[in-house]
Amino acid sequence: MKEQLLRKKDIASILKDSLQEKGGLKRTLSVRHLIALGIGAIIGTGIFVLTGTAAANYAGPALTISFIISALGCAMAGLCYAEFASMIPVAGSAYSYSYSTLGEFFAWFIGWDLILEYLFTAGTVAVGWSGYFVSFLDDFGLHIPMNMRLAPFDHTSAGGWVTTGSIINFPAMFVVAVMSVLLIRGISQSATLNNIVVVVKVVVILLFIGFGLSFIDTTNWTPYIPQNTGEFGHYGWSGIFRGAGVIFFAYIGFDAVSTTAQEAKNPQKDMPKGILLSLLICTILYIAVTIVLTGIVNYKELSVPAPIALAIDNAGEGLMWLRMPIKIGAIAGLSSVVLVMMLAQSRIFYTISRDGLLPKFFSKVHPKYSTPHNSTIVTCIAVGLIAGLLPINVLGELVSIGTLMAFTLVCISIIILRKTRPDVERPFKTPLVPFIPILGVLICLSQMLALPFDTWLRLIIWMVIGFVIYFTYGIKHSKLNKK
Ligand code: ALA
Repeated sequence: MKEQLLRKKDIASILKDSLQEKGGLKRTLSVRHLIALGIGAIIGTGIFVLTGTAAANYAGPALTISFIISALGCAMAGLCYAEFASMIPVAGSAYSYSYSTLGEFFAWFIGWDLILEYLFTAGTVAVGWSGYFVSFLDDFGLHIPMNMRLAPFDHTSAGGWVTTGSIINFPAMFVVAVMSVLLIRGISQSATLNNIVVVVKVVVILLFIGFGLSFIDTTNWTPYIPQNTGEFGHYGWSGIFRGAGVIFFAYIGFDAVSTTAQEAKNPQKDMPKGILLSLLICTILYIAVTIVLTGIVNYKELSVPAPIALAIDNAGEGLMWLRMPIKIGAIAGLSSVVLVMMLAQSRIFYTISRDGLLPKFFSKVHPKYSTPHNSTIVTCIAVGLIAGLLPINVLGELVSIGTLMAFTLVCISIIILRKTRPDVERPFKTPLVPFIPILGVLICLSQMLALPFDTWLRLIIWMVIGFVIYFTYGIKHSKLNKK
């Protein structure tokens, strides 16, 4: 049993499998596509929704420092991802990396964890999309019926469940279905749409930063670090760290780039660029938005679902023209997050299935479109149900804990592989190993520990379901059984 759990897939055989596959995924993505996929996945609910509450409740104007701290944690993990993605450029991302370092059981563990990250991020962001879309239609006098706008249940801050009177979140399910059709039609089409959407959202954000600058009232920045209220996490330095934990969600997505490694034209060179540049560009944009936002509106007033819209209202007539573009930017921005997360999810299913740990059905590639269509359809059904039935607040923290765990394991794997396989060619090398990966592990673990007990419980339940699937199916059907 122990040998089965710890059996490893050799890097050479992972690469060979990905190359020899006939009628498999097509290599069409350039470095520009990869950077755009990264930005497409990163900029979303985090900046359009969470910034306001994080500034208002935890960090005040010093949320800019929270963004820097969170970016540093992501950068450590991003550097490790970049090394792996250039060394093992296959669709399985962290799942494949750990298959070659830690063994099959850990690979399944992390693969199942990635499924949690991508499914639930796509679901969460689809719910955010629905909120913006409903309000956009309302502006034009088009009203979606009240019982089709929300999930049937909501989770109160006191920890209980209440019914909302709604039947289903229809717009959230709609965006999931549209993105799925696009994903089945082809990776190039999906990447092209993503490019357009990324341009729209980045231009809108730049307009807000550029025109917002002149409406800043610098008195809103004092005190820059509001005094702690006596409670941990409410302003002061502990608030800055809690803020960093909350807005970590805003950075999730750069790792999704690595799941397209098998569809990149030149993955060895382009993967590190795609991962690290998208992260850098988004960090700069996030910090700039936070500076302008907390400069226009006093942080105490920012606890609203659409903080950027509030800033525009506060600026008066001068910025009113930006109201509609911001809404369009948010709708476009959130749809690309849903798209890339579902793309990543289908590639994870695909890779795990090729290794035999999930049924073959998942790794069938469409004869005409060269996309893993079965995986995409299953992803669509799962994300659609999550988005249609669950409220946003339950989903977000679950996503963060799952992602932090994946980052931790990737950082650990880098150290192990440097020791066990120093001979493998590494087109990109994480600098200062083991210092950077260890720092990455420490930052990620401390952010995980700061999350509430409920979130840990949900993570444990998810993992137990994963173990049941592995021990009843995966361990028996693993391709490594035959070797
Ligand atoms: N980073 C993505 C967002 O903020 C998940 O929506």
